[in-house]
Amino acid sequence: MKRILIVGAGGQIGSELTRNLRDIYGDNNVVCSDLRQLTGPIYERGPIERIDSTQIMQIVDVVKKYNIDTIYNLAAILSATAELNPMLGWNVGIGSLVNCLEVARIFNCAVFTPSSIGAFGPSTPRDMTPQDTIQRPATIYGVTKVTGELLSDYYFTRFGVDTRSVRFPGLISNLTLPGGGTTDYAVEIYYAAVKGEKFVCPLKKGTFMDMMYMPDALDAMINIMEADPSKFIHRNSFNVTAMSFDPEIIYNAIKKYVPDFEMVYEPEPIKQAIADSWPNSLDDSCARKEWGWNPKYDLDKMTVDMLTTLREKKEKGLL
Ligand code: NAD
Ligand code: SER
Repeated sequence: MKRILIVGAGGQIGSELTRNLRDIYGDNNVVCSDLRQLTGPIYERGPIERIDSTQIMQIVDVVKKYNIDTIYNLAAILSATAELNPMLGWNVGIGSLVNCLEVARIFNCAVFTPSSIGAFGPSTPRDMTPQDTIQRPATIYGVTKVTGELLSDYYFTRFGVDTRSVRFPGLISNLTLPGGGTTDYAVEIYYAAVKGEKFVCPLKKGTFMDMMYMPDALDAMINIMEADPSKFIHRNSFNVTAMSFDPEIIYNAIKKYVPDFEMVYEPEPIKQAIADSWPNSLDDSCARKEWGWNPKYDLDKMTVDMLTTLREKKEKGLL
């Protein structure tokens, strides 16, 4: 049975990954950690530690204490927030990654660190962006992601550390709100629809980006770490996607179920510039061939599930 440490477990992905990993590997085999104090039923099912992942000894102590063999490294500052404080973006994204890789090298752990569509830039082919292509991002977030991909591959080839990764598109979920990304609008729009509010869209009509529903993202993270590596041609990092849309398309998908829903456009310059530098759509055929990636949710199926779940939350007074 794996002995897993999640670093940065308090965020949009970590809150749900903690639950799913504990369902699979057992509550006591999954240690969740974050810079901030983690509270609530999902976290309290098993061990909780406070780790600032820019401090290597804090990771070392927990890895030794629980005999950890697998690290999910989720600590990062997302794209829009990092653009407001680039050094923070670099220090957290790269500090956490380098420390996790060093600990993994010394204590023989596998490491998963998500990359992003942000690892691409304005000179990358925009449509059906290939797995292997130009990566010259225009954001500090993207610079950390490309650096992370390269460092993770280096630790594999140089030291044999079992590093694996996917390039996530925007993730849409209903448990924990996203933390300062450019794709956050695609989550916030569902909350506005269910609350009966007019949605103010921070991106222009026609701004296409790849997206994915959280259940598929959780499968990607768990399945790639369980995959037989003998079939890998790539490692850090695989393109994965489930859908591509612009604000108008997701708005109309929601309007089908919430007919009086209204949206207006008020583009935010930083988010718009970031989105304009990212691909419209990714080619994820290598992930499909090398480890069986196969998402289950398209836009309509996700929309039905998001609206149902958020309406239930609203009825319980949780929105
Ligand atoms: P998030 O912002 O919701 O959560 C990040 C967590 O890291 C937070 O709980 C924060 O407290 C924690 N953290 C920050 N600094 C820390 C530190 N020094 N030590 C320990 N913890 C620290 O982010 P997320 O959406 O859960 O993203 C997780 C990872 O997935 C990131 O690497 C992100 O770039 C990547 N990713 C996310 C998306 C998405 O749409 N959510 C898409 C692509 C890639
Ligand atoms: N959701 C992330 C962001 O917008 C993509 O990596 O920053």
